[in-house]
Amino acid sequence: MTDRRRIVAGNWKMHGSLVSASELAGALAATTHEAGRGLPEVIVFPPFPHLDAVRRVLEEAESAGTLAVQLGAQDLSIHEQGAHTGEVSADMLLDCGCSHVLVGHSERRTGLRESDELVARKFHRAADHGLIPVLCVGETLPERRAERTAEVVLRQLGAVLELCGGNMFERAVLAYEPVWAIGTGHTATPEQAQQVHTLLRGEIARTNAKIAVGIRILYGGSVNGANAAALFAQPDIDGGLVGGASLDAKEFLRIIAAV
Ligand code: PGA
Repeated sequence: MTDRRRIVAGNWKMHGSLVSASELAGALAATTHEAGRGLPEVIVFPPFPHLDAVRRVLEEAESAGTLAVQLGAQDLSIHEQGAHTGEVSADMLLDCGCSHVLVGHSERRTGLRESDELVARKFHRAADHGLIPVLCVGETLPERRAERTAEVVLRQLGAVLELCGGNMFERAVLAYEPVWAIGTGHTATPEQAQQVHTLLRGEIARTNAKIAVGIRILYGGSVNGANAAALFAQPDIDGGLVGGASLDAKEFLRIIAAV
C-alpha cells in the first residue's frame, strides 16, 4: 500500500531568530514552489514567536494561494482559553495559520514530564479544533535494550486511542521517534523503523482498518540527506520528522528530494 502522500516535516525546536526563521522559510518555499508538482507535503514547525513571520514569508512565496509549505506549531495547550500563563491555545495556532501541531514530542515527555494522558488530551484538543495532530511516540535506549519498545509505543498510542477513539486519527499523522536516535546521529536502521511502523499501523487497524491504511507514519531521529532514501523506501515509512537537518535549507531539500 503505497499511495499515501509522503510528508517531510521540519521541527525547528528552540533554534534561530526571527530573521533566520524567515530566511529559512523563504529558501524552502521558493525552491519547493519552483520544483512544482509530485512533491511530498512539506510542513515546518517554527517556535511560537516565529510562526506569524514564517506564515507571511510562505504566503508571499506561494502565488497560487495555497501554501506549498504548511505551517505547524510544536505544542498546544489542553485548555480552550483563560488564566493559563505561558500556554498557547488551538485557536491561537489556527489564527497564526497553523494546520498542524506536534503532540507528545519526547523532549516534552521527558524534559517537561508530559504524561501519556496529557498528550492524549492535547491530541484531542488539536483534532477537535481542526488542527492536524502529529503524535510522536518512541522508546528510550534503556527501554529498547530491555526489549520494551513495542510495549512503550503501544502504551503511548493506546492512551490516545482510549481517550479519542480510532476515528479521531482520520486526519492525524503519527511519528515514530526513538529517543535514542534524536539528535544523536544514531539513526534507527530502516528495518528497525519499519518493524515499529508496522506495529503502529496494526494497532490503528484494530480500531479502524480504513484509517490504518491511509494514516501517514513518519520516522524521526537523525534523518539526513544521506540516510533518508533508505528509510523512505520501507513500505510503512511515509516520510520523516526532521530536527537538526531541517535547519539547513539545502540539507532539508535533499531529504525532500529523497522522497
Ligand atoms: P533530529 O530530531 O532529526 O535532530 O534527530 C528529530 C526530532 O526531534 O523531531
